[in-house]
Amino acid sequence: MDLGCGSGVLAIAAAKLGWSPVAGVDHELESVRATAENAEANGVVVAVERFDLIRGGPAPSAPLVLANLLRPLLLCVARAGFAGGEVPRTLIASGLLSTEADEIAAAFARHGLVETDRRASAEWSALVLRRSE
Ligand SMILES: C[S@@+](CC[C@H](N)C(=O)[O-])C[C@H]1O[C@@H](n2cnc3c(N)ncnc32)[C@H](O)[C@@H]1O
Repeated sequence: MDLGCGSGVLAIAAAKLGWSPVAGVDHELESVRATAENAEANGVVVAVERFDLIRGGPAPSAPLVLANLLRPLLLCVARAGFAGGEVPRTLIASGLLSTEADEIAAAFARHGLVETDRRASAEWSALVLRRSE
């Protein structure tokens, strides 16, 4: 599940790496269209739909969730939780500044997600969070 899929690049990469089924959501109609078109152009299947991570309630979930989102949206997802209470086995949260990484990790810790890896490049960071049980 690619939250805020944009052009679909992460979802498409996941599908090319063998993940299936792959889905993505974005609140921009343009992103939904772009993801569908780019998936088709790359010969992969991505189920994409419009969803607002701020007002839509709990985020769509899956065993692996990719969330390349800015801090406010990541905090929204952490606050709203995951649809059906289905906490992902792995959540990769990126798009955050390194100074925000501790706050984001703490926000998801309440769902039982534990930080297992952190990557930084210039001022940006990505977190790998895994379900503890
Ligand atoms: C940093 S981009 C990431 C795009 C893509 N996943 C990537 O890695 O290149 C963040 C995406 O979140 C989407 N987004 C912003 N606010 C959103 C919201 N409230 N609900 C759902 N998606 C949202 C934007 O439209 C944008 O496509």
